[in-house]
Amino acid sequence: MNFEDRPVKLGVNIDHWATLRQARRDVEPDPIAAAKLARQAGADMIVAHLRRDRRHIQDKDLFELCRLRGKTHVEVCADPAMLAVVTKAKPFSVCLVPERPGEVSTEGGLRLADGAEKAAGRAIERLKKSGMSVSLFIDPEASAVRSAKSLGADTVELCTTAYAESKGGREGKTALEKIDLAAYLAHELGLRVHAGHGLDYENVRAVAGIAHLEAVNIGFSIVSRSVFVGINAAVAEMKKLLA
Ligand code: PXP
Repeated sequence: MNFEDRPVKLGVNIDHWATLRQARRDVEPDPIAAAKLARQAGADMIVAHLRRDRRHIQDKDLFELCRLRGKTHVEVCADPAMLAVVTKAKPFSVCLVPERPGEVSTEGGLRLADGAEKAAGRAIERLKKSGMSVSLFIDPEASAVRSAKSLGADTVELCTTAYAESKGGREGKTALEKIDLAAYLAHELGLRVHAGHGLDYENVRAVAGIAHLEAVNIGFSIVSRSVFVGINAAVAEMKKLLA
């Protein structure tokens, strides 16, 4: 374990406070106010996913978030029109993710082979030229880690969906080992390591124990918990699990 990486930092994804607002196309709950509260409660980074269908975060939210003090991290697909918005907003960092029209949430890591890596390469170049640090959301596979490195990414976010959906047992152990190995390789190659998707209060600790992991990005479970206990307690509780 590299203790310099501890405690693992918490990126709080605010999308689903915006989902609630968009249910009525109204002004509340205000995701920017939620971001401020999450930050006060200990979030190290505020994360938002700008989707093509704008079903949660809107462009205006993104610009406001990027003006707040502290780090804003944006997830977006490599579509040039989406990148144009993000390069204008100038968050601290950007994570490139795949996006399938109609998906409920991100469905695994980027494909970085058979020509599909070209769009990611162009996007990385564009974002880095605009001064942003770039992460790639990838499945925990050695080939994807190597591709991320050769494309010039600064960070990889390892997809934890398979682990989160495994509900523990042998399958969970295997999924966790894959994340562990991918994190090790990424670190050896000089990449920073994040992880996320599907993490919650029950399954986060095992992921947080992975060496070289710098941050986890968590949204849905924190927003869900906040409905019952409030944003402050929901974020603080998650931070405690990472300590
Ligand atoms: N990481 C990435 C790359 C994502 O696309 C998402 C969902 O927007 C998350 C993390 C957060 O996932 P969850 O809401 O399941 O915590």
